[in-house]
Amino acid sequence: MRAASATGPRRIGGRLDVVSLAGEDKPLPRLKTGIKEFDHVCGGGLVPGGCLLIGGDPGIGKSTLLLQVAARAAAASGKRVLYVSGEEGIGQVRLRAARLGLGEAEVDLASSTEVGAIAGAISDDHALVVIDSIQTMAVEAVESAPGTVSQVRAAGHELNQAAKKQNVPVVLVGHVTKDGSIAGPRVLEHMVDTVLYFEGDRSHQYRILRAVKNRFGPTDEIGVFEMTGLGLAEVPNPSALFLGARDADGPPLSGAAVFAGIEGTRPILVEIQALVGHPGYATPRRTAVGWDSARLSMVLAVLETRCLYDFQGRDVFLNVAGGLRLGEPAADLAAAAALVSALLDKPVPRDVVLFGEVGLSGELRPVGQEAARLREAERLGFGRALAALAPASAPERKRRKGDAAHGALVPVSIARLSDLTEWLREGA
Ligand code: TYD
Ligand code: MG
Repeated sequence: MRAASATGPRRIGGRLDVVSLAGEDKPLPRLKTGIKEFDHVCGGGLVPGGCLLIGGDPGIGKSTLLLQVAARAAAASGKRVLYVSGEEGIGQVRLRAARLGLGEAEVDLASSTEVGAIAGAISDDHALVVIDSIQTMAVEAVESAPGTVSQVRAAGHELNQAAKKQNVPVVLVGHVTKDGSIAGPRVLEHMVDTVLYFEGDRSHQYRILRAVKNRFGPTDEIGVFEMTGLGLAEVPNPSALFLGARDADGPPLSGAAVFAGIEGTRPILVEIQALVGHPGYATPRRTAVGWDSARLSMVLAVLETRCLYDFQGRDVFLNVAGGLRLGEPAADLAAAAALVSALLDKPVPRDVVLFGEVGLSGELRPVGQEAARLREAERLGFGRALAALAPASAPERKRRKGDAAHGALVPVSIARLSDLTEWLREGA
């Protein structure tokens, strides 16, 4: 009898094949659609057999994005793409395709909600299969109505299995619903390989595609799009997008601060705006748009307790410009600067960006990816960065080619939140 090699399969217990961890696996071949922002968020393109869920509010642009992805994927792969709509009739989808200039794309269009029929049609004759939306799909064996938890689960399971079996990427669209009776994308998150959310404020033109789970790539990556009259346009260099309506020549306004953030692997500069007012009613309002309201309460409490600013009895509003949603604690310092600037009616100097996490005792903590934040701020012409810099990294910051064109950015390290407020008050 021959001994099993270190990497070769070995059968144990009669029916289970095992292999060792070491082995040579080829990197996954990916289908690049050519929509770079989309491919980037997917971790470098769609993986054959991978099941991807795109969630988002109704009307945010999921169908638009996926029709564009379908058309581009067909062109890139030389194979047709199957697009199944359970929500819209053939005519409606055709109308959208015509409006997007995609009427000639190599897409097979079906209007159906029958999971059995759709799963049976999934094969590698198609480069990609899009199901819009999972909430309209019905598995015959399940009695409950489409959109219920059991239907969404069963449909998701069957379509995911078909993707794996046929080795074709399948994209499921899921509406995020506030109504508890209808199952949102969350019930599918554990089942699929990749979960993307399409975010943005419908009143803004910017849309952010964010990876929240990805078996084939990093999470927290974002892709940025702009909704135009001709569908979604890529925004390849989004860093300066969220700087608000900053007037470069006018006087700086109080209540605004620029945060040097990181989304996934990308540096993004974004303006944080604050308004502090007297309440019309007895109970002051605390509202955050694009930021965690618990985080707002915490930063306000630290400003009040450790720096003796009086926000008591005031209305406080915080807004992240451009409809971006910030999740990083690194935004604390910029939020605090906007709040204090609004309270004192003293502008943050125009050439300043900020980043750093605020601790409960008023200390500022260094955050990750310092160099990338500083580099981006410098690239966009900012002169100073107020931040809790990690002691070792600040002096060693490497100059890069092309820096000189914009003049060097000066990092100013501050250790306590009270240092920031002193610095602002003096209008340094
Ligand atoms: P849609 O893709 O239907 O959203 P979802 O599938 O997420 O529900 O897009 C809806 C909105 O997008 C709709 O209000 C119109 C707008 N839109 C444009 O602004 N430009 C376009 O080219 C298209 C096709 C839609
Ligand atoms: Mg739709």
